[in-house]
Amino acid sequence: MSVRRLAPDEVQPASFAFTPDNLAWAQKTIGKYPAERKASAVIPLLWRAQEQHAYWLPKAAIEYIADMLDMPYIRVFEVATFYTMFQLQPVGKKAHVQVCGTTPCMLRGAGELIKVCKSRIHHEPFHLSDDGDFSWEEVECAGTCVNAPMIQVFSDVYEDLTPESLEKVLDAFARGEKPKPGPQNSRHGAEPEGGAVTLRDLPFDAAGPAKAGAAVAEKSKPASVAKAEPAPEAVSSAAAEFAAKEEAEIKAKLATLSPDATPEQKADAVGTRPTGLAAARSNAADKLQKIKGIGPVNEGKLHALGIFHFDQIAGWSREEIRWVGTYLAFPGRIDREEWTVQAKALAAGAPSAKE
Ligand code: FES
Repeated sequence: MSVRRLAPDEVQPASFAFTPDNLAWAQKTIGKYPAERKASAVIPLLWRAQEQHAYWLPKAAIEYIADMLDMPYIRVFEVATFYTMFQLQPVGKKAHVQVCGTTPCMLRGAGELIKVCKSRIHHEPFHLSDDGDFSWEEVECAGTCVNAPMIQVFSDVYEDLTPESLEKVLDAFARGEKPKPGPQNSRHGAEPEGGAVTLRDLPFDAAGPAKAGAAVAEKSKPASVAKAEPAPEAVSSAAAEFAAKEEAEIKAKLATLSPDATPEQKADAVGTRPTGLAAARSNAADKLQKIKGIGPVNEGKLHALGIFHFDQIAGWSREEIRWVGTYLAFPGRIDREEWTVQAKALAAGAPSAKE
């Protein structure tokens, strides 16, 4: 962890005040907390001040916020100097590069990234490059270790970096562009390189990813081996393709709706409501919470839809899965958590699952 001190007096502005828009936002933010707890707004207010002031916090801004929150200056200084998200001295106009130097990132090449920063920006952290466009520092874990090594630039993270890809990211910033955040290699999110290696054989009810994957794999094979099991890679990529298509389709449809659309209207736009029961059969609902992913809240919502039994969930069609997923505000999760598969298994042994 680097030493964190306020910038020298010669670069400190004489005063700081929020712009009218930021002031209105700050007052609204403070209003979210009980009057005697308004100090809780300190971090969002400091962050807004930093965004307003070229991404660094002058002493005047820290004191301005302390006054606004009726906090002793020292308390706000403690916050501002503790978190590396707050910059205490001028940073590069185009990018301040925070390189994670904690163990996983270091083991994956953070040292090489630091060398790039030293040669390209300045040999010392917290110094501006000659043109004033860049600065850098080493920070502790930023929480994206699975995509190590990484850097953070303002609010975005750039992951799975090599010295070469870091150079490209910096080139883009130098041109005044905003490079696409996230992994800088072929990975999608935190998935393994080359695609997912688990949940490749989801036995979806309708034309789900596994079936779509099998179909693609089947099609791409020579006739002599067409009956064999589909290649895992083909299933995996087809499943991902199917999921992405589903999500895009649902998103596109929801985007055409009024922002005031109810959960039911949204669900109706993308799927078909499953038929519910007026009450649990024999007044004995299955314990839907036995399905991983269903907690008490969702169980209550399912009951309200007339869904009480495992066999009801096990029998959902693709359209019904889309409807329920969208209604519960998590399209895709039913597939990812295999609710229907779990329900089928539970339905087979349902007697012990009665409430
Ligand atoms: S160790 Fe670098 S992000 Fe966690």
